[in-house]
Amino acid sequence: MNDAIREELLINTKKWIYQAGDNIREQMEQAFKIDTKSNANDLVTDVDRATEQFFVENIKANYPDHKLIGEEGYGDKVESLDGIVWIIDPIDGTMNFVHQKRNFAISIGIYHDGIGEIGLIYNVMDDVLYTAVKGQGAYRNDTRLKPLNDEVRLETSIIAMNSIIACENKRINEKKIQQLIIDSRGGTRSYGSAALEFAFLAEGIIDAYLTMQLAPWDFAAGFILVNEVGGITVQANGNPIDLLHNNTILTCNKQIYERLMNDYIELK
Ligand code: IPD
Ligand code: CA
Ligand code: CA
Repeated sequence: MNDAIREELLINTKKWIYQAGDNIREQMEQAFKIDTKSNANDLVTDVDRATEQFFVENIKANYPDHKLIGEEGYGDKVESLDGIVWIIDPIDGTMNFVHQKRNFAISIGIYHDGIGEIGLIYNVMDDVLYTAVKGQGAYRNDTRLKPLNDEVRLETSIIAMNSIIACENKRINEKKIQQLIIDSRGGTRSYGSAALEFAFLAEGIIDAYLTMQLAPWDFAAGFILVNEVGGITVQANGNPIDLLHNNTILTCNKQIYERLMNDYIELK
C-alpha cells in the first residue's frame, strides 16, 4: 500500500469513527432493542447493527473494490486476505454498552494482502481514539505511545484476562491460571472489551491480555496497535494468529512472553 492511500484511508476512517461515535451517543439516549445471538450472554442491539451499516455504506461508496468483514454480517463473505480487507467490530463490549453505557469501543483494522496497515480503536464514551499505522507508531489521541516498558517482570505485571479461565474449563489448565493470578501484580483485570484490552496493553497500562476465544473483529485493530509499540500477539499455543477464524489470544509485552508460555499457559 502506498503512503498516499494509507494517509487517505486514515483520514477518512477517523472521520467516520468520530461520526459513528456521535451517532452512538445520540442513539443511547433513546430506547434500543436488545437481542441475543449464540447464547443468552451474546448480546446485539440496534445500535451495533446501525453502526456497522454506517461503516459499510461509507466504505462501499468510497472503496468499492475493498472487502469488508463485519461482526454483524453486513460485510462480504471473505475467504482470503488478498487485496484490501477491512475488519470491523461496530461495538466491542456490547455487554458493557447495554449494562454500563460505557467501556465499549469501535474497532477497525485495515489489512493489505494480510499485512496490518491501519488500526483504530475508539473508546466512545471517553472520546479516546487509539490509532496505529504500520511503521509509523501508535497514538492515543494526539499523543504518541511509547515502546512497551522493557524492564517489566511477571511479578510487576498487570495481566488482563477473561476471569472464566480461572474456573474449571475445557481449554486451559485453570490451576496454572490461578497461580498466575497469585504471582502477577495485584490479581488480574477484566475490562469486557477485547479491543480496549489491546489498546490498554499498547498504552502500557496493562502488560498482557489472555483469552480463549476471540473473533477476527475483536483483535484485528489491536494486533496492529500492539505491533507498533513492540508487543507480541499470538495464539495461546504460540502459533501466529489467523485473521479469518476464531483464535485463542495472548498479546503481551515481550519481556514476559516466555514466562507466560513456559510457566502458566498449558492448553488442554
Ligand atoms: C466481546 C468482547 C469481550 C470478549 C468476547 C467478545 P462483543 O465482543 O470483546 O470482552 O471477551 O469474547 O466477543 O461481542 O462485545 O463485540
Ligand atoms: Ca467484539
Ligand atoms: Ca461487537
